[in-house]
Amino acid sequence: MAGTIPREFIDEVLAYTDIVELIDTRVPLKRSGSNHMACCPFHGEKTPSFSVSQPKQFYHCFGCGASGDAIRFLMEYEHQSFVEAIEELAQMAGLQVPKIAYTNEPQKQAPEQFELLDQVSNYYQYQLTHHPKSQQVQDYVKQRGLSPEVIKTFGMGFSPPGWDNVLNVIGAGDQKKIQALFDTGMLIKRDEDGAAASSSKAPWYDRFRERLMFPIRDRRGRTIAFGGRILGDGKPKYLNSPETRLFHKGQELYGLFELKQALRKIERILVVEGYMDVVSLAQFGVNYSVATLGTATTAEHLQKLFRLCDDVFFCFDGDRAGRDAAWRAMNNALPAIKPGKQARFMFLPDGEDPDTLVRQKGKAGFEAEMDKAMTFSEFFFDNLMQQVNMESLDGRSKLIDLSKPYLEKIQEGAFQTLMIARLSELAEIDQTSLLPLLGIKSASVASTVSREKRFNHSSARIQQQGPSPVKKAIAYLLQHPYLAEKAGDPGRFASLELADISVFMQLLDLLQNDPHLTMARVLANWQNTEQHQFLTELASERLLIDDEQAISCEFDELLQLFTRQYQQQRFTQLQRKERQQGLNKSEKSEYVQLLIALKSG
Ligand code: UTP
Ligand code: MN
Repeated sequence: MAGTIPREFIDEVLAYTDIVELIDTRVPLKRSGSNHMACCPFHGEKTPSFSVSQPKQFYHCFGCGASGDAIRFLMEYEHQSFVEAIEELAQMAGLQVPKIAYTNEPQKQAPEQFELLDQVSNYYQYQLTHHPKSQQVQDYVKQRGLSPEVIKTFGMGFSPPGWDNVLNVIGAGDQKKIQALFDTGMLIKRDEDGAAASSSKAPWYDRFRERLMFPIRDRRGRTIAFGGRILGDGKPKYLNSPETRLFHKGQELYGLFELKQALRKIERILVVEGYMDVVSLAQFGVNYSVATLGTATTAEHLQKLFRLCDDVFFCFDGDRAGRDAAWRAMNNALPAIKPGKQARFMFLPDGEDPDTLVRQKGKAGFEAEMDKAMTFSEFFFDNLMQQVNMESLDGRSKLIDLSKPYLEKIQEGAFQTLMIARLSELAEIDQTSLLPLLGIKSASVASTVSREKRFNHSSARIQQQGPSPVKKAIAYLLQHPYLAEKAGDPGRFASLELADISVFMQLLDLLQNDPHLTMARVLANWQNTEQHQFLTELASERLLIDDEQAISCEFDELLQLFTRQYQQQRFTQLQRKERQQGLNKSEKSEYVQLLIALKSG
């Protein structure tokens, strides 16, 4: 397959590439001696055995055996072909791939369609300055203040007046070409669309007429579609290529190719709404923006952007429509946010868009506005808090309800922890009680909770250990049966929705009746049951503390944790019932007691 790419060129590309940098932007690496380590992206694992060597420019996984150089990595990790991987590395290094490279590559996409669209793009670019009627488009370009440089960078052009320019110039009477032009959305079939307004009887006509053209390019710079703006007023203001085999709006971002060409190192990317915004921003030096193509930002868009940098800014109008669009983008972004990645939201002053703002304020002024962007959690909670009364406990618990469906979509990790910590702060409820309400397993968060303000030290320690609090409590009981006495009536734990709670209650009951049972006799009660194995393990697990008083303290704390969890659970239950059918007298009084208990805790 590599046959047509000269070996020397491959060597050159590899010489310019740093494999550590390449992999690190996709799989964050940690330095360890002379190597860099991570959990292997090619097989599931919890402890890192994927190692990348800078001196050797090679990766190797001791777990699954995956190994290779930078090219291999891109092929495996991004499912690129050999040639695509080389092209990407060459682009990063600023090297031009020898043209010959394409000839033997089995193309997944129709090469003749790319070829034709490039021809169309060149044709439009030429018409911008050479068409007899180009004066009006040049006036328009001038009025919009676009520089010749930026027009060239973005390959902007002019689709001249007339119904058959592309048809005749590019199609040239060749049925295969005409069909391909139709497939790429450049031509419209006359019968299918009643808008036949030409005197010509040809069954096809040009989609774009008398418009300022913006070619949309894929990551390799090939033209895959167009957007065209009307010169002046009129409708539709922008006309876009339809979805085709080459063009998927939910995946492509306008300006991404140009951005990658302009920048060697991408620190951040700004997502805006319009073609004109991207072009103007670039003209004024904010050359790191892209636009969605008349659609909301998708998770796929964001994944693409996060592969290139850690910070993505979304820019919206400050009005209601802008807020709504931002909320949609937020919702789509949720599942795409990974450790180390940040999304922020920027709202423009009324009546401005990025194009007008950057012309007014220049690069520095515009970037000063960007610095005021809201963090993800600010934007998220500000919006939800507007819907509830934060002064009341009811309102604060409503905030939890409203947050839940969104927080569920977040990947486990630091970002989730941060969002939960913020919610815990705002709703004034400790995280241990909050997690079950959100339906999130504490284990997933506990591992990343570093320090929790409202929770005391030893409880945090309980959570950080492997076994769940219930298992922990069982271990204490098994190893120190006298603790059972302190627990009081186990009945109150009965309705706790926690794994293994029934085992805990059974054990309590057993030991309260006979505190002198030997371990063997205790365990015998679970002989031949599923629980026997883990109980035996817990019975012999080494507890971190052996001081009797400390043990008693820890156990107390576990009981308190269960109590609070129970209270919170019961409270939510009553609250739901209150909304649906109302509460009776005793339930009302229970509700108030719980309210007070939860507030004071
Ligand atoms: P806007 O209406 O906000 O236009 O559309 P704009 O970017 O400010 O453009 P100018 O400054 O008036 O030239 C934003 C984006 O929405 C899509 C286009 O992608 C456009 O860039 N759009 C808008 C359409 O697809 N069709 C339309 O008719 C209008
Ligand atoms: Mn505009």
